[in-house]
Amino acid sequence: MVVIEDIATMKAYALDIKSKGKIIGFVPTMGYFHEGHLMLMRMAKKISDHLIISIFVNPTQFEAGEDLDKYPRDMERDKNLASSAGVECIFAPSAKEMYPEDYTTYVTVENLTNRLCGVSRPHHFRGVATIVVKLFNIIEPDVAVFGKKDFQQLTVIKQMVKDLNMNVKIVGHPTVRESDGLAMSSRNVYLSLDEREKALILNKSLQHVKNLFKAGLRDASKIKESVIQMISSEKGCDIDYVEIVDPERLSPVNTIEDKAIVALAVRIGSTRLIDNIVLGEQC
Ligand code: PAF
Repeated sequence: MVVIEDIATMKAYALDIKSKGKIIGFVPTMGYFHEGHLMLMRMAKKISDHLIISIFVNPTQFEAGEDLDKYPRDMERDKNLASSAGVECIFAPSAKEMYPEDYTTYVTVENLTNRLCGVSRPHHFRGVATIVVKLFNIIEPDVAVFGKKDFQQLTVIKQMVKDLNMNVKIVGHPTVRESDGLAMSSRNVYLSLDEREKALILNKSLQHVKNLFKAGLRDASKIKESVIQMISSEKGCDIDYVEIVDPERLSPVNTIEDKAIVALAVRIGSTRLIDNIVLGEQC
């Protein structure tokens, strides 16, 4: 496995792989791997001939005052885990390499980004879209895999790729959970034992509404109210949002006709966690 830190070498490496007629699979990450990341890598490996990942804690997707500086990092551990997942190349540029001093170009995906997480994180998706376009331009992957836990991010990337006529297939991987149901996230390490226990209410509330949906409930406001009630009953859980939205447009739905996503963001102490469930899909 090779680790490349500069853009010129990365471009030349990827071009060489492509010239051999190989399909490049790509998983962009911010590192500090957990099993969820490794599952994305294994999936990308299965559907490609050559697996490249990136490790880059992207400063432009953090709001002022967020956890950019304390975001967990462990390059040596990540390298070993990536290698065990079959990764052939890690692109790990510095912030200066990706955003030199004279950097001025940003990518904005409209509408999809001003709701859900975009309300409390107004610059986040601009940063995500920008870095993903840059990574796609450098690596030119044929297929890229993103986790469905960040389903708004996945929706934004799919829209961006379509709008900008990019030659990459975007594939979503189901949310990977701990055995007790907590969605895997690099930010889970911020949780104290007590907070981690409280965090289980996120998945519990989603499983509860899945059962309500199975029993025939289709009124989105009632489903939302039920999630809010359950999470609010857990002390120290501060709801950022709970929304029931259309999976493609991310617009709120009143009655669930076909498929809808129940999405939520909750602060537990100083840690903000997101999770979601699809209703109407294998339900
Ligand atoms: O999901 C993430 O880890 C990040 O948002 C991504 C896609 C790597 C962009 O920095």
